[in-house]
Amino acid sequence: MDPITNPYTPNAGSKPPELAGRGKQLRQFEVLIGRLSAGLTEQSMIIRGLRGVGKTVLLNAFEDIAESAGFITFYHELTPESSLIAQVARDAESTLAQLKLTSRVAARLRDSLAHLKTIRIASPEGFELAVDLRGGDEGQVSADLAHLLVQIGKAAQEQGRGVVLLIDDVQFAAELEYRALISALHRATQKSLPVTLAAAGLPQIPRLTGEARSYAERLFDFPTLDSLAHDDAAAALASPARQHEVSYTPEAVQRAITWTGGYPFFIQQLGKHAWNLAGQSPIDLDAIEDAMPVAREALDRSIYEVRLQRATETERRYMKAMAELGTGPYRSGDVARKLGKGTGGVSKIRQRLLDKGLVYATEDFGYIDFTVPRFDDFMRRRNDIGA
Ligand SMILES: Nc1ncnc2c1ncn2[C@@H]1O[C@H](COP(=O)(O)OP(=O)(O)OP(=O)(O)O)[C@@H](O)[C@H]1O
Ligand SMILES: [Mg+2]
Repeated sequence: MDPITNPYTPNAGSKPPELAGRGKQLRQFEVLIGRLSAGLTEQSMIIRGLRGVGKTVLLNAFEDIAESAGFITFYHELTPESSLIAQVARDAESTLAQLKLTSRVAARLRDSLAHLKTIRIASPEGFELAVDLRGGDEGQVSADLAHLLVQIGKAAQEQGRGVVLLIDDVQFAAELEYRALISALHRATQKSLPVTLAAAGLPQIPRLTGEARSYAERLFDFPTLDSLAHDDAAAALASPARQHEVSYTPEAVQRAITWTGGYPFFIQQLGKHAWNLAGQSPIDLDAIEDAMPVAREALDRSIYEVRLQRATETERRYMKAMAELGTGPYRSGDVARKLGKGTGGVSKIRQRLLDKGLVYATEDFGYIDFTVPRFDDFMRRRNDIGA
């Protein structure tokens, strides 16, 4: 059928025509925003999930909800180079600019920020903020940030607004900065101010310790996004087509669900190719089966190859050894043995793969798994890498 009208969205962060199976999380976020608007407090969310399950898309939907309620929103996708605190400081600047404060309120705010040590007012007027984390220890950073968040929270609240920070790929946050932000948010929440954070990241989000950990347990819920359940996966596939009066045969839907395992990214990719290859509606089993190898090739190129390229030869061999053990999670000791080494001999390689976000440590101590669904299958198909 016509590729020009193809409704599927197999691209990172692309809003799907049907955001299937996420009603619970959307409702939870609506309640949060409603309660913050009413001067009440509520837990926000730190969402965990593998690559391609729909974390970014969900954060974007949260952003729409917050904006409809008059909140000022900021979305950041972190990289290993990002400074979380510097980004939050820029968001604070931008919030204050958007609030169009009276000169009296602005002067009061400038005074109240003047004594901070790690986040300083850097301009003779206005709210340009300079961040220098070397100016204090973690306690100081978090106290300064708390002060800043409380001030912007108050200024927003006075105007019937609020602020939502949406942080994507939060696994890349530096632990100190992340802990400081959580502690600072705790302060704003204690004062019932409409400032909150919703974050998403790989299962391995930074570990929180000490006070930040106990605050986080009260401030956040930690839902895990997973592949879609049967009916939601069927809706993710069929509903975008239905909007164009195109249907699927039941056998086609069933085959597609099995092939994709309900992973949103796989559904978008398979749906796209099935649509392009199908002659007419309904899209049948033949069209799905024709689309499978094409979709697999597209997945190889879009999510697997790029990740493999980020790994060195030794890291690739380590991942190949994982894959050859079957499906994960994998015990680190077993991987080492497969490579003919002791655990100590390969622990640096393992750590580099964790840092690159290619694997993550599962809840069970000593186990790791791939961050991309079915990466093991891809690695087993790669005969050019020797384990
Ligand atoms: N609930 C959903 N229903 C249907 N399609 C979805 C859903 N969520 C996400 N998608 C689709 O799945 C793909 C992946 O979504 P997204 O980029 O949000 O995943 P992600 O978890 O952020 O991945 P990554 O960890 O690589 O950043 C996109 O093509 C998107 O259109
Ligand atoms: Mg994402």
